[in-house]
Amino acid sequence: MKNLINPNIIGLNPYIPGIPLEEIKEKYNLERVVKLASNENPFTLPRNVSEIIQKEILSLNRYPDSDSHALLKEIARYHGLDKENVIVGSGSVEIIKMIVRTFLKPGQRILSSRNTFVMFKISTVEHAGNQAYVEAEMDEGYGYDLDNMLKRVDETTKIIFIANPNNPTGTMLPRQKVLDFIEKIPPETFVILDNAYEEYVSNPQDHLSGIDLAVNRKNIIVLRTFSKIYALAGLRIGYGIANEKIIYYLNQIRPPFNVTRMAQKAAQVSLENDDFKLRSSRLNQKNKDLLFTQLTAMGFRVIPSQTNFLLFFPGKNVNELHQRLLKEGVIIRPLHAFGIPDGIRLTIGFEADNDFFIEKLKKVLPELD
Ligand SMILES: Cc1ncc(COP(=O)(O)O)c(C=O)c1O
Repeated sequence: MKNLINPNIIGLNPYIPGIPLEEIKEKYNLERVVKLASNENPFTLPRNVSEIIQKEILSLNRYPDSDSHALLKEIARYHGLDKENVIVGSGSVEIIKMIVRTFLKPGQRILSSRNTFVMFKISTVEHAGNQAYVEAEMDEGYGYDLDNMLKRVDETTKIIFIANPNNPTGTMLPRQKVLDFIEKIPPETFVILDNAYEEYVSNPQDHLSGIDLAVNRKNIIVLRTFSKIYALAGLRIGYGIANEKIIYYLNQIRPPFNVTRMAQKAAQVSLENDDFKLRSSRLNQKNKDLLFTQLTAMGFRVIPSQTNFLLFFPGKNVNELHQRLLKEGVIIRPLHAFGIPDGIRLTIGFEADNDFFIEKLKKVLPELD
């Protein structure tokens, strides 16, 4: 059988998603299950978004607008750009894949950091094999080490992925450091600024959005998503911003109708929901601070985070802890697939859900070695 398969796929470690809540409820016959595993917004949709989705159901016999014109216009207006600077995808993950397929030529490589969003690696390996992906060590605080990355840039480096803030560590690179890094990168190498968690950053003046750079240069692409603060993870929609020539080539391989009718409509309305975004980020900050204090008080190393999740080190066998917590109705994210086998990523939920997690953690810890 193996000889039938593209060898790049044989060498692939596929993405391991957070376990669905319904699965654990059924498996362990539990009344209450709390999912703090996929960096979702705990709030359900604001009314104007759910209403427009309901309305759109009546048109689902028709294909969506293949080019998402109205949404492109709305995103462009929101950022003060032309719609030729924007592309939308079925989640920003789809755009990551499009970037790799559009720009990476045989023999070229993609560079990122260790302990970062695994789709950078998966998208590279499936397209070009293991040897096409290079990763630099992080610094001791679990942040991207840009000096280390710079040392790995050579004439084969075609694309550099930077998740800022980073998943799964929650760390953020300061604005000036990223700007200095970009200045040292040759113009024929792409720098992708994946800013999926930008709206959660507590000091935005120190974070590089990169939108001006992306529009004015020909080697910078900014990625954003509606899956996090906009609470539309279930609809699958994200977007990219770049120079119009870059967007033109990405569109050459974009599948037709790649964003559903409901996602297009919901995203358009969501951009205007400033109150919802503010409420979401404030609640996140408050509950994150609380969890940080609680976990630190329990003696764990917790990495300060600019996102809607925390990386912490429980000092126990993480796989066993994960399994025990599942039986208690708590889903967290073990990080072996992210190269941090002793770490856990915990998404910030509502206070009651976070408390439930802490209660169960305290219950199961003494049972473990
Ligand atoms: C850094 C980063 N980029 C991109 C994504 C993908 O988001 P989307 O749901 O838009 O595909 C995630 C999701 O967790 C992420 O953490």
